[in-house]
Amino acid sequence: MAVIKIKEDVFYVGANHWDRRLFDELIPLSEGTSYNSYIIFGKEKIALIDAVDPATVDQLLYNLEQLNVQKIDYVISNHAEQDHSGGIVNILEKFKDAKVVTNEKCKNMLMDLLLIPEDKFIVIKEKDTIDLGGKTLEFYLTPWVHWPETMVTYLKEEKVLFSCDFFGSHIATSDIFNDEHFYMPAKRYYAEIMSPFRNNVRNNLEKVKKLDIDIIAPSHGYIYKNPQKIISAYEDWASENVKNEVIIAYVSMHGSTKKMAEFLREELIKRNINVYFFNLTYTDIGQLAMALVDAATLIIAAPTVLAGVHPQAMYVAYLANLLRVKTKFIGIITSYGWGEKAVDSLKNVLTYIKPQFFTPVVSKGYPKQQEFLQLKNLADEILKLQKDIVK
Ligand SMILES: Cc1cc2nc3c(=O)[nH]c(=O)nc-3n(C[C@H](O)[C@H](O)[C@H](O)COP(=O)(O)O)c2cc1C
Repeated sequence: MAVIKIKEDVFYVGANHWDRRLFDELIPLSEGTSYNSYIIFGKEKIALIDAVDPATVDQLLYNLEQLNVQKIDYVISNHAEQDHSGGIVNILEKFKDAKVVTNEKCKNMLMDLLLIPEDKFIVIKEKDTIDLGGKTLEFYLTPWVHWPETMVTYLKEEKVLFSCDFFGSHIATSDIFNDEHFYMPAKRYYAEIMSPFRNNVRNNLEKVKKLDIDIIAPSHGYIYKNPQKIISAYEDWASENVKNEVIIAYVSMHGSTKKMAEFLREELIKRNINVYFFNLTYTDIGQLAMALVDAATLIIAAPTVLAGVHPQAMYVAYLANLLRVKTKFIGIITSYGWGEKAVDSLKNVLTYIKPQFFTPVVSKGYPKQQEFLQLKNLADEILKLQKDIVK
C-alpha cells in the first residue's frame, strides 16, 4: 500500500496482502490482511516500527524509497513473529548501520527465528526511552498478546501507541482509518489470536489505558483515531462475562444428529435464546471462534464413528480447548449405531477448560420421543442457567 501520513513526521509504510486467504495455515482470511510498518523521522534519528511479512517486503522497500529514506537508525521490533519481523532481515541488509531495538526475550527469539547476529541489537527494558530528536519512543512490555515477548512502543510527543498484534485485525484495506467497519474484523482477530490469553489481555489493557493516546496504530488492519472504541471492545471481549447465547456446532452423516440439533435450536429460539448454528462440514472456524467469545453455552452434536466421535466434532472440541473458551456450559448430543463413544471422546480433549457439562442426549439411531423430551429439558435447563448468569 502507498505511504500514508499518520502524524507529523510519522508515516505508514506497510503492506497490504490483498489475496492472502489463510493465516498460520489455519485461519481463513476472508478479507486478506496487512502488515503495518511505520516510520518516524526525528531531528537526528530515524526509526522503523516493525517490518512486514517476507512475502510483501518489496512494498515496504518501495515505500521507503518514496519517502527518500537514506538511513534507518533503529528498527523497533515489538514482536518476533515473522509476519512483522521477517522483513527486518531485508532492512538490515539495505541499511547497514541499523540496530534492532527490542526486549531481551524478543532479541533471543529473533536470533533463533531469523538468525540475526547478537551485535545488531539494542536491548530495552520496561519504560526505557529512545530520543530520536524531538520524538521520544517509550517501551512497555505487554507479554502474551499473543507471544511471551510482545511489547508496545509509545511515541510520546505525538501520543501514538504502536501496539503490534494487540488491537489488530486481519483486513487488507486502503481505508485504514475507517473505524465504522472495525468491529467484526477486530473481533475475529481477537477471537482467533488473543482470546486464549484474556487474563493477559486484561492486564495489558490496564497498562496501556494509563497512557494518553491519540492514535492506536497496530501491525494488522485498522488504525484507530478513536482509541476508546477498540479499548472498550477489548474490555468487553476479554471480560469473563458471557451472553445469553448458545452455539450448536453439529455434524451428521445420515441426519439423526442433525434432527436433534435442529430440534434443540428451535426450542432455544422459542425461549428467546440467541443461537449460533454451525454445520461443521462448512464452518469457517473464524466465525465459530467469534461466537465463542461471548456464548454462555456450547453444544457439540456429532455421531459416534469408528468407536470415537466424528473427526469434525473432535476438531471443534480440540480448538475450543486450545482457545480456552470462557463458555460456562457444554452439552453433547450424539447418535450411535451399536456402541456409543462420542461423549467420552469429546470430554477427554476438553482438558484446559472447566465448564459445567449438561447430561448428554444420546440416541440409538434416529431420535425418538424420549430424546426429544430430553432436548426440551436441556433447553429448559439452559434457559434457567443462562437467566441466572447473564446480566
Ligand atoms: C463410517 C461409520 C462408522 C461408524 N462407526 C460407529 C461406531 O463405531 N459405533 C457405533 O455405535 N456406530 C457407528 N456408526 C453408526 C452411526 O453412529 C449411526 O448410524 C448414527 O445414527 C449416525 O448418526 P447421523 O445420522 O447423525 O450421522 C458408524 C457409521 C458410519 C457411517
